[in-house]
Amino acid sequence: MSQQPKVLIFDSGVGGLSVYQEIEARLPQLDYYYLFDNAAYPYGELNRQTLIERVDSLVSSMVAKHQIDLVVIACNTASTIVLPSLRSLLTIPVVGVVPAIKPASNLAHKAVGLIATPATVKREYTHELIRDFSQNKPVELLGLTRLVDIAEEKLRGLPVSLEELHQLLAPIANKVDVAVLGCTHFPLIKEEIQSVLGEQVLLVDSGEAIARRVQELLSIEKSNNIEGIKEIYSSATPWQEEALNIALAKLGFNPVRPFHLEL
Ligand code: DGL
Repeated sequence: MSQQPKVLIFDSGVGGLSVYQEIEARLPQLDYYYLFDNAAYPYGELNRQTLIERVDSLVSSMVAKHQIDLVVIACNTASTIVLPSLRSLLTIPVVGVVPAIKPASNLAHKAVGLIATPATVKREYTHELIRDFSQNKPVELLGLTRLVDIAEEKLRGLPVSLEELHQLLAPIANKVDVAVLGCTHFPLIKEEIQSVLGEQVLLVDSGEAIARRVQELLSIEKSNNIEGIKEIYSSATPWQEEALNIALAKLGFNPVRPFHLEL
């Protein structure tokens, strides 16, 4: 039996896999449980109360069922509001992901672009981050659910239209020299975003920092000798499950299993 720490990574969809990849590169020996709430996807369009209730119940029941040691809320949209309630419900560490405004602002010479979900760009939390950490660089906000869908589609083997990306990103193109990928889905289409915005724009996300934080909290070193468990669960039958399972197998996961709340 594996004695490795068990980490739960949570998102509305496949975006949290970008965070999983960063953590797994640092700590391949952990037992990974990935849960996505695609019954309520996209989170960027969900009201605040529903979001808090869903994340609290799904995450706490998964933690109890699998004796999880650490939770990563690999979703900016959820992290900007659910962390206080979730931390009060659980006794284990809960790591959240918020847009990397501070490093982006430090790196920018001209202006920062924040590409995120419509909910994240509206949240008070995001505006506080901007006030606190980007006083001297303007931040251009761009909330796009369609960009989240494009990442979901890519993982199911569908082509990404650069022309469509061009139109979507037009409001910030040529205005910013650093862009924050403020949604965990976006690193999955980073190459495409980069090719549309141009090589002169630096893209920044929080994946690395989250992985570092997880390693710090677990205080363990990397080991390549142990192969951990990799299980993935969904709150509804995922759209194009078969195509998705092919991509998941490449990341080391077993096919998606159902996880329903017993309310
Ligand atoms: N991946 C999520 C985030 O980081 C949200 C995507 C969504 O469901 O709208 O914000």
